[in-house]
Amino acid sequence: MERISKMAVVLRTSFVFMLISVGASTKTCLSGSLKPDYYAWTCPEADAIIFAGVEKAVIQEARMAASLLRLHFHDCFVNGCDASVLLDDTVTFVGEKTAVPNLNSLRGFEVIDAIKQELEFACPGTVSCADILAMAARDSVVLTGGASWEVQLGRRDSLTASKTAANNNIPAPTSNVATLNSKFQNVGLTEQDMVTLSGAHTIGKARCATFNSRLTGQPDPTLQKEFLTSLQQICFQGLASNNNTVTSLDVETPVIFDNQYYQNLPSGEGLLNSDQVLYSTGGTTRELVEFYMQNQEAFFENFKTSMIKMGNIQPLTGTNGEIRRNCRFVNSLG
Ligand code: HEM
Repeated sequence: MERISKMAVVLRTSFVFMLISVGASTKTCLSGSLKPDYYAWTCPEADAIIFAGVEKAVIQEARMAASLLRLHFHDCFVNGCDASVLLDDTVTFVGEKTAVPNLNSLRGFEVIDAIKQELEFACPGTVSCADILAMAARDSVVLTGGASWEVQLGRRDSLTASKTAANNNIPAPTSNVATLNSKFQNVGLTEQDMVTLSGAHTIGKARCATFNSRLTGQPDPTLQKEFLTSLQQICFQGLASNNNTVTSLDVETPVIFDNQYYQNLPSGEGLLNSDQVLYSTGGTTRELVEFYMQNQEAFFENFKTSMIKMGNIQPLTGTNGEIRRNCRFVNSLG
């Protein structure tokens, strides 16, 4: 009897959180010109080629799953999911790779290049770099133990990039909840999307530079004591700080896509300030953390929904943009 009533509470809470996500937005295209079977006739092997490319890379280095998932996020938050993040700087062109959130940080470009090369061989000029990023992100989640979803397809690639927008739109790890919310709202995503997508930090690593302000002077009191000491050992040797040393975002299960990220927060084991504040600030974000830490299934379900929403941010479709031949350059330069 008690079990049944507990289940009823879980179901009701999960229903409430699902409802919150129905709030429509203008920046994401919900009805969508994108569709899952976009390449069914023009490149039926696209799915398999992309999965194989991601799988090969993740077998070589487990962290690559995290790096590929992050690439899609950094693409979508800067003028939509249009592969602008993949464009290299040239003498006449400034891309997004040198923006603060990306420099010495984004990884996985070679993996996307290899996949694109195979796709160009199989079906030339057909599959966009932006769609490769969206599918590689899904495959990365699946390969590390997360749930799968049907990726909406048909995005085209941008002719431009914006370093300024990359600097302004991608949230900083020092952000508080209000700032995180406003950066997500700017691209049409909700607070629930923000807390749910932050769960991507269940895999991958971060450089000391992104969290060492929590360790020095008066250390952040929300950090668990032993965790603080271990991070200080990782990030400082005597007086020198190792800014580029990396450590796992999820200290417990760093290469498994699960709900452990949320379980780490109540005990003060969130690595970035932007992770820990989701719990420490209280309110709705803490309620969601507490919900997901007990309900991996609900986290997986909502993660799918939020990833599809993120993937729908301002796609280029129809005759806008182009299908790049090489993801690093627009066709007129490549
Ligand atoms: C909520 C706001 C977010 C902030 C402030 C944030 C910040 C960061 C930072 C600072 C790093 C470490 C970068 C480095 O040290 O070089 C990182 C890594 C990562 N982020 Fe986020 N992130 C956020 C949201 C997201 C979202 C929405 C996703 C994907 C859906 C994501 C996926 C990842 C992954 C997978 C890594 C590890 C990458 C790797 O190991 O190469 N993050 N994030």
